[in-house]
Amino acid sequence: MAKAQKKIILTGDRPTGRLHVGHYVGSLKQRVALQNSGEFDEVYIMIADAQALTDNADNPEKIRQNIIEVALDYLAVGLDPARVNLFIQSQIPELCEMTCFYMNLVTVSRLQRNPTVKSEIQMRNFASSIPAGFLTYPVSQAADITAFKATTVPTGEDQEPMLEQTREIVRAFNSIYGDVLVEPAIYLSANKVCLRLPGIDGRAKMSKSLGNCIYLSEPSDDLKKKVMSMFTDKNHLRVEDPGEVEGNPVFIYLDAFARDEHFAEFLPEYTNLDEMKAHYTRGGLGDVKVKKFLNNVLQAELAPIRERRRAYSRDIPEVYRILQEGSMRAREKAAQTMAEMKRAMKINYFDDTALIAEQAKRFAG
Ligand code: TRP
Repeated sequence: MAKAQKKIILTGDRPTGRLHVGHYVGSLKQRVALQNSGEFDEVYIMIADAQALTDNADNPEKIRQNIIEVALDYLAVGLDPARVNLFIQSQIPELCEMTCFYMNLVTVSRLQRNPTVKSEIQMRNFASSIPAGFLTYPVSQAADITAFKATTVPTGEDQEPMLEQTREIVRAFNSIYGDVLVEPAIYLSANKVCLRLPGIDGRAKMSKSLGNCIYLSEPSDDLKKKVMSMFTDKNHLRVEDPGEVEGNPVFIYLDAFARDEHFAEFLPEYTNLDEMKAHYTRGGLGDVKVKKFLNNVLQAELAPIRERRRAYSRDIPEVYRILQEGSMRAREKAAQTMAEMKRAMKINYFDDTALIAEQAKRFAG
């Protein structure tokens, strides 16, 4: 009888800054739910420092500083080191080894067509000076995923092209060398609005360089200031005016965060978000009131996260110990897969006694 396939999660983030509420609704929240579901045999969550270095080679200090920030964010949202392996990508040399072999299964033009890489190249104004490591990071990401035989990758929607590239590599590898690797599936937030939360200025992407993020670790008064400064419907000038909820950042955030319990607690004149939206649409509901409610909702949601972050911050050596232990376990798994790959690729010369005997016979003449 065939062994039932294990269910394995692998995902990660580049440590280029603290994580924000967009990461939270887009992916971190799901990771915690999946961890708690008990449905997965193994869970690996990776701080992708090697990938971050593909466009930050000249600034390793930035990456080094942000590793601990991201680790604290992970722990703060409720990822539990007893149930998940939190690890650092660069500490797993097998990932580089796999990348090297996968490179032979991918064409340069295929990499150049990757829509995520294309838009990142544009954003960074690389023009013709694209680091080779940056162009090929989807291949290294395929190694990240396949090293753990991940079946499920909970991540943002923008990562779908990486998953597609990974599946192509898996199929190429398995068809040439035999079934070793596992095709992964992306796991997206069910709440469509969570797929990409806009910045507080309404721009499509929350980004540190645009200064339009709300961080998970945002102190309470900064959080309030940011919410009160959010863009809304620019044509909604007076309270009496009818307002537009579609594309209105404040309502997009409410779609992502507000639950009926929040209304009961903070704004009982509405039972749910639909009622509030209807009032805004017909006129008579001011932006300040909506923002105050959003602030209450976000404060409620982020308070426990902030509290857990503070608790872990008091014992930073312990956080590094968690990462080191996670990295050790991750390495064991990756090394196991690497050994299987080498066997399949017939580059396991020294443990292949049949090969040695066969060659001995051939030369014995
Ligand atoms: N590319 C991801 C990001 O920019 C980070 C990442 C690296 C990742 N390796 C991964 C995500 C493997 C999922 C699976 O956030």
